[in-house]
Amino acid sequence: MPSDERLPTNDLLLTDKFGRSIHDLRISITDRCNYRCVYCRTGTNGAAFAELPFEDYLRMARILVSMGITKVRLTGGEPLLRKGIVQFIRDLSKLRTVKGEKPAIALTTNGHLLAEIAQSLKDAGLDRVTVSMDAVDPDRFARITRVPNGYDSVLAGVRASRRAGLDPVKVNCVLLRGFNEDQIIPFGVFSREEGVVVRFIEFMPLEEDRVWTPQTVVTLDEVVARMSEYLPLTEIAREHSETARRYRFPDGIGEIGIIAPVSHPFCGHCSRIRITSDGKLRTCLFSAWDHDLYELMRRGASDEKLAEFIVKVVEKKEERHHIGEPGFVPASRTMVHIGG
Ligand code: GTP
Ligand code: 5AD
Ligand code: SF4
Repeated sequence: MPSDERLPTNDLLLTDKFGRSIHDLRISITDRCNYRCVYCRTGTNGAAFAELPFEDYLRMARILVSMGITKVRLTGGEPLLRKGIVQFIRDLSKLRTVKGEKPAIALTTNGHLLAEIAQSLKDAGLDRVTVSMDAVDPDRFARITRVPNGYDSVLAGVRASRRAGLDPVKVNCVLLRGFNEDQIIPFGVFSREEGVVVRFIEFMPLEEDRVWTPQTVVTLDEVVARMSEYLPLTEIAREHSETARRYRFPDGIGEIGIIAPVSHPFCGHCSRIRITSDGKLRTCLFSAWDHDLYELMRRGASDEKLAEFIVKVVEKKEERHHIGEPGFVPASRTMVHIGG
């Protein structure tokens, strides 16, 4: 093998300058979406960035997995809009981590197209799925997503995922004051009845329309207080780099997570790096710029050169976000164009 084709050695394991180990990779495979959630998109703007052939994402993932990535999450836009995702997952599941294991493979989806494909995804090597659902009421769901009749399809997707053995199945609910904070208790019931982990997310300023204000954020404390009117929550242990604080109900049925980047930031143990659909590396959701890995690849760089580039980019990972601070600079891309 020519020397510049050698795979990186373990001294290239990814760590940033704050000592955070980077082991979660999120790849957005499209910034197209079939929903227009009010807290995410304007409803008129469409896709803005290119999509790469899967073999290009696969090469990036292979290099990153050899540098310490242990979990690969596919995001969008809506990733199930891309044909070929099943084969891509099959290929990803042949990669081996530094420890020689299959990387964990996860998917974040709006769930609209999930029911018919859940079993094939599982058979291809998908381990877990996170479905975005911001209401458990069909009318409210339609008002938030701005697409008629989506609720039943998404619910079918959640159920099909459980039947297929995807584990865990998580449901992400972004809370927006005045829109869906009355859904907190119904989601508690939903978690227990459907056997899924429901995670409430504090709304972050990453939307296309400028609707975020501190007052629109429904905080962790409010969620805990509201849920306690139904049943008390007890916090349970979580992984060091996990975004969600985890809670159980007294009888152990159901699980609630709260992702609180605004009221309880977790940047200090962030383990994430992102690839956008057009092959740019992003070191933070709130990065003011991104790093063009694809351009380097297109110009014929070897795996070793790409790994060196990645190491340098990771070194520059931001210490934290500045949501709510004076002089906050919005990210260079909105959520739908980054991948959640
Ligand atoms: P698992 O933890 O593996 O279940 O992954 P997941 O994608 O289901 O959840 P994750 O915790 O990775 O992300 C869920 C939500 O948390 C995202 O949609 C974002 O809203 C938020 N989030 C994820 N990563 C970050 C991050 O690096 N910074 C901030 N501020 N928020 C994040
Ligand atoms: N703040 C927090 N979460 C968001 N998501 C989309 N936009 C935002 C935002 N501004 C969530 C979606 C989905 C995941 C991809 O990110 O609901 O669960
Ligand atoms: Fe699409 Fe997800 Fe944005 Fe909703 S939150 S519009 S499903 S990318």
